[in-house]
Amino acid sequence: MNLIFLGPPGAGKGTQAERIAERYQIAHISTGGMLRAEIRNATPLGAEAKAYIDKGALVPDSVIIGMVESRIQKEDCKNGFLLDGFPRTTAQADALAEITDVDAVVDIEVPFERLVARISGRRMCPGCGAAYHVTTHSAATCDKCGETLYQRDDDREETVQNRLVVYEEKTAPLIAYYRERGKLLTVNGDAEIDTVTDSIVKGLS
Ligand code: AP5
Ligand code: MG
Repeated sequence: MNLIFLGPPGAGKGTQAERIAERYQIAHISTGGMLRAEIRNATPLGAEAKAYIDKGALVPDSVIIGMVESRIQKEDCKNGFLLDGFPRTTAQADALAEITDVDAVVDIEVPFERLVARISGRRMCPGCGAAYHVTTHSAATCDKCGETLYQRDDDREETVQNRLVVYEEKTAPLIAYYRERGKLLTVNGDAEIDTVTDSIVKGLS
């Protein structure tokens, strides 16, 4: 099963992707997570990506497409994969269609006014990439691996606003793109985390 999770920043793509990938035993591929790992490891790709990410802009298609193309050829994708945060432009979607088939595209819908609060209260685990929210998780460490949580640099208010604008301009057109191709599954992301997971599972089966 090859899946794509679409949705604006803060919609819950990463939160749901972790659960769905585990349930169906498929690889969870977060392009944002891969880029953050490159930055942490101080690679040339990380240095290039950081300049874009810190502004809330998209990393160039040429960089991202090559990265995803080699990632989905890895052994752990034999059973399928879940792309979280890719594609984000029509050029990326066209390139993906050349490489592989996709079974379903899950669009997680959340009202825009909820997104900033979700993002500004988010805390991330540097080890496993799990996302928590300060209102529902008071501990300073990750429940799964015990690492100290941190706030993403691009979760600052000014950057968040730009990410939302970029989403509307560059990524939202993919909703129509995949609807026209009969792949789109829309779920309400403005509900309890477990409820959203149930809607996705129901929609996929
Ligand atoms: P990326 O890491 O993909 O960030 P994003 O798309 O902005 O999405 P987020 O990770 O912010 O949100 P999410 O939907 O995963 O929400 P989450 O589950 O964490 O990309 C970062 C940057 O990398 C981009 O800006 C770009 O520069 C670059 N990049 C990445 N991919 C690229 C590509 N393909 N092309 C070009 N550039 C690319 O949840 C958010 C918060 O809400 C958490 O605190 C969570 O606990 C909470 N929450 C989740 N679900 C619920 C719920 N149901 N109810 C209440 N709270 C909830
Ligand atoms: Mg994410």
